[in-house]
Amino acid sequence: MKRILTGDRPTGRLHIGHYVGSLQQRVELQGQYEEFILIADVQALTTHFENPELINESIYNVCMDNIAVGLDPEKVTFIQQSMVPSIAELTMFYSMLTTVNHLLINPTIKSEARNYGFGEGQGEFSYDFSRLTYGFLGYPVSQSADITFCNADLVPVGEDQVPHIEFTRRLVRKFNELYGTNITVPDYKLSSTPRLCGLDGNSKMGKSLGNAIYLSDGPDEVWNKVRNAVTDTNRISVKTPGNPDVCPLYKYHQTFNAGEADNIASMCRNASIGCVACKKLMNECLNKFLEPIRERRATYESNKPLVKEIIESGTAKANEIGNEHIAKIKDAMHVKI
Ligand code: TRP
Repeated sequence: MKRILTGDRPTGRLHIGHYVGSLQQRVELQGQYEEFILIADVQALTTHFENPELINESIYNVCMDNIAVGLDPEKVTFIQQSMVPSIAELTMFYSMLTTVNHLLINPTIKSEARNYGFGEGQGEFSYDFSRLTYGFLGYPVSQSADITFCNADLVPVGEDQVPHIEFTRRLVRKFNELYGTNITVPDYKLSSTPRLCGLDGNSKMGKSLGNAIYLSDGPDEVWNKVRNAVTDTNRISVKTPGNPDVCPLYKYHQTFNAGEADNIASMCRNASIGCVACKKLMNECLNKFLEPIRERRATYESNKPLVKEIIESGTAKANEIGNEHIAKIKDAMHVKI
């Protein structure tokens, strides 16, 4: 079986945007690939270095969220990034072949730099270099090591991660050419579902944007968020026809209520359904989707030692693979005595 590696930053719980963008794919590919899920706690430090307790707690949450959506902990390997020294070593070696410019032009780094206060992140030199950290700027190098320490073949990702995989491919080719190594050049697989917008109309759902529906949210939390959703802002009353094309809530119907979406669109256009009714329908759909996820999560929530065991045994397996691989790489690089 070919190997998948993908990962999450443990900076909080995972939400339904993560599900649509990436977790769904992981579940679908389970069984066709050997799956490694990296809990990227070192990468989380690049933006949350002032909040290490949150990262530590989120390691458990991220693992439970992945299991809750249907990843079988018997089949999938969960890895804690900081506990795999071969990733850190490989990051160091890769950094020698990486130019600063190549990192500065990465579009995902640019937009994240803006979000995290490292400068405006637009245009080539609009970083605030007095704030931009070496660790943050360099995380694509570390991500390349995440993917290749175990010779992963495929990385299922959302759109925002594509620049990092392209970066990895170029870096690994260069490295192999230079040292005669045979590190696998990974492919990526994009999620086929379009990115989920926020119910507040923001183009992105995000923890930091405060507009996320978490996989672990209960029915009351879900209804509170759905109740406040933005709909077609030009629709002033139930009697005026609405336009689903500009309605964030309608996008949710297309994703979580696909079978009924066309029907709902025409009822909206001829004003035979109002926004409140439409929200109630979406609330039902989301709860129906989340209920089995909540149930599976509950089993693990009450058994933290079990989650710890899952992460520790997965990490031990990763270390066996990584130690063997890094020894070969160092040998090829003449890093020896
Ligand atoms: N950068 C990814 C994110 O923000 C997380 C991540 C870390 C990752 N290492 C990875 C994703 C390796 C894929 C492969 O979501």
